[in-house]
Amino acid sequence: MSGNVERSTAVAEAMADIRAIDAAGIDRDAVELIRCRLLELAELSELFPWSDFPADESRDGSSLYLLSQDVDHRFALYIQSVKDTTEAPPHDHLTWACIVGLEGEEVNRKYDRVAGDGPPRVSEEFTVRRNTGIAFLPDDVHSIHVKGGALNFHCYGHDLLDLPARNYWAEPAREWRTMKVEFPVVDAR
Ligand SMILES: [Fe+2]
Repeated sequence: MSGNVERSTAVAEAMADIRAIDAAGIDRDAVELIRCRLLELAELSELFPWSDFPADESRDGSSLYLLSQDVDHRFALYIQSVKDTTEAPPHDHLTWACIVGLEGEEVNRKYDRVAGDGPPRVSEEFTVRRNTGIAFLPDDVHSIHVKGGALNFHCYGHDLLDLPARNYWAEPAREWRTMKVEFPVVDAR
């Protein structure tokens, strides 16, 4: 991991803009603005080469690199690096979330929650790739499916490791459960 002033400056400028968007209130329009600001950051793709963010093969072949986070745990920007394959079951985030592509493809399925405790229903599918992105409100539910590797920005209103347990659909048991995010994060600030 090389120290990179240009990268940290570009990240700091994007996060300052995102803080200002958030301060005006979070709704569907606001997360769209955040998505657009992260797309601008992703245009500087030479600052975020895959070689600086390798996927850890000793784990499940994916790694999460922290690029920015406030001291109060708000406004966390990560790069997720996936060597080949990763999946995340339908889940919410308890804060806003935005994914923007740098390399490869990450299939995102969005879901409608159905009344009661039933399984969520797929409402749309969107593939995040270079120069595209998707944004979520705190209650939105999505799942992630990567094949063939991917490098993406994942940005959240709050530090993933500091969030309370979030909700996810456990298909084998066919029920909603909660799980705290505990996977390791590499500090790349
Ligand atoms: Fe997610």
